[in-house]
Order: sequence, then C-alpha cells, then structure tokens
Amino acid sequence: ADEGPLAGRHVLVTSGPTHEPIDPVRYIANRSSGAQGTAIARALVAQGAQVTFVTGPAAVPPPTGVRLVRVETAIQMRDAVEAALPADAAVFAAAVADWRVAQAATSKMKKDGSGRLPQLSFTENPDILAAVAQRSVGRPRLVIGFAAETDDVLAHATAKRLRKGCDWIVANDVSPGTGIMGGRENAVTLITAAGAETWPRMGKDQVAERLATRIAEALR
Ligand code: C5P
Repeated sequence: ADEGPLAGRHVLVTSGPTHEPIDPVRYIANRSSGAQGTAIARALVAQGAQVTFVTGPAAVPPPTGVRLVRVETAIQMRDAVEAALPADAAVFAAAVADWRVAQAATSKMKKDGSGRLPQLSFTENPDILAAVAQRSVGRPRLVIGFAAETDDVLAHATAKRLRKGCDWIVANDVSPGTGIMGGRENAVTLITAAGAETWPRMGKDQVAERLATRIAEALR
C-alpha cells in the first residue's frame, strides 16, 4: 500500500458541499456532488499518498483508504482542516458556503398564523483555502484551490489564485449547459505561476489522475 510516487506524503483534500443550518431541521446547501474531490482523493491514494479527506454531506460515497472526517458546516470544515495539518499538499475541492445564517434558531421556526415571514440575516464564512494558503507557519508546500466560474473563467481564476495566495487553481466552467456540475466529466484549466494550461474535456477520474500525477511531480 505504501508505494507509489506519493508514498510518505500526507495530502489533505476537502470535498462536497457544506450545509449551513437555519434551524434544527432546515439548512442552506449547494449543488456540489463531491464527485471531483472524491476522485482526486482516490487518485492520490492510488499513488501511495496518505490522504485526510474532509467532506461535507456529499451525494457520492467517500473513497476508501483515506482518513475520513465528515463535517456539515464551513466552520466545522475549517476546524477539521486545521486539525489535519501539517500536510505536504492540500487540495480544496469543497464547495464551501460563502455565507451562513447569522443566528441559526435553536428550535424549529414555526408558522404562527400571522402571515409574517421569517427574515434571515447572513454572516460571512471563513475562507478555508485562503487561510491555509496564507499561513506563515505550517503552510503545505503545495496549496491547490478550485474556481468554479460561469464566465471569464481564465481571468477570474487567475485573479483568484493571487487573491487567495494558493499555488495552483483548477478552474472549470460550470455554466448551465456544460453538464459539469453533478456530471461525470470536467473541462479544466490548470493555473500556476507559470501560466494557464487547458486540459481536454475528460472524465472526472482522469482529471483526478492527471492532477495527482502533477502533485507527485511538484512534491518530488
Ligand atoms: O472564492 P471561491 O469560493 O470561488 O473559491 C473557491 C475555492 O476556495 C475552492 O478551492 C474552495 O474549496 C475554496 N473555499 C474555501 N472556503 C471558503 C470558500 C471557498 O476553502 N469559505
């Protein structure tokens, strides 16, 4: 098992959506299936890495052979990520909610018959990728973020790489029509300090393998 180009390396992977509670029975979520993050973790394991897989409530089952940490909220994901460090590399494939409900109710919100509607106010979630990428101590050698964009993919993803402080951004076009969000295929552009590299459209498993190979090369 402990063989392959990533033997002896610890890689952290976040995956899936987060669920942000409104009250004990309701939450705000997003359409991330966790498929790409799961495929990446599987490919890293196949290349011999020790993988910590921090996942929100995903539609696909988690990979085998990882150290599995299940979370629901962005705050829980941030705490699990911090607890999992140090790592040689970290791949942030999770679709973390940007906002959470500021004061989630502790008992179920009820219709009171008055016709008055609930008002939700939001607060910003921590940016887990940016926090890890900008650490002065204990920063993984290779920090990889994702950018799911619907327009100007290259420009937005290039700006995101600099803003977040990560090494690489895996950018993809999730426009409605592409079938990528929730689908089996992905079309990505890998953005590094050296520039942008567009990969042909391929299965999420193949994207994962190719990315794992690149990670192994970068850590060598
Ligand atoms: O800013 P945006 O959400 O588009 O950035 C996407 C990248 O940042 C992904 O790699 C995602 O996993 C990561 N992210 C994060 N924590 C957040 C928001 C995004 O780690 N709160």
